[in-house]
Amino acid sequence: MKIKLLYIIIIAVSFFFFNCESSNIRFDDAGVYPKNTTDTTTVDTVFFTTQILPVFQNNCGSCHFAGNNPDFESPDMYNNLINGNYLNIADPENSNLFYLPDPGHADDYLTATEHVLIVKWIEQGALEN
Ligand code: HEC
Repeated sequence: MKIKLLYIIIIAVSFFFFNCESSNIRFDDAGVYPKNTTDTTTVDTVFFTTQILPVFQNNCGSCHFAGNNPDFESPDMYNNLINGNYLNIADPENSNLFYLPDPGHADDYLTATEHVLIVKWIEQGALEN
């Protein structure tokens, strides 16, 4: 008798939980909420000139200037990154940018959001946009 009651309780409780699917809050890859799914230019596309370049200038430029590659102060920063083989478009997380001179070096100076933004930009083809 007691066992039956237990079964009923278990079934009732699980029914309750399965029916209470909470609406998931959606964050985009950069952790931004709410994601505006219709505006693909401002939310989904990461722009080198306005979003990526300032991150490198502000966080890396103090040490990485002419002669200390990658040169993040040069107006030619984009070509430095591309020609220096720092980016892996097929596998952005494994870009040399995050692994040289040792793993975690770049991340010491980046927030998680900035890291994701850079990865997203590489994923999108690392365009000079
Ligand atoms: C406090 C100074 C400093 C800051 C800030 C700094 N770095 Fe560096 N970084 C260095 C030094 C010094 C080296 C060279 C170390 C070596 O070769 O052993 C280096 C090397 C590198 C390399 C390897 C270069 C190569 O061709 O082998 C990469 C990639 C790199 N840094 C990326 C970054 C990024 C991205 C940032 C910013 C998010 C950054 N660094 C911020 C000092 C800094």
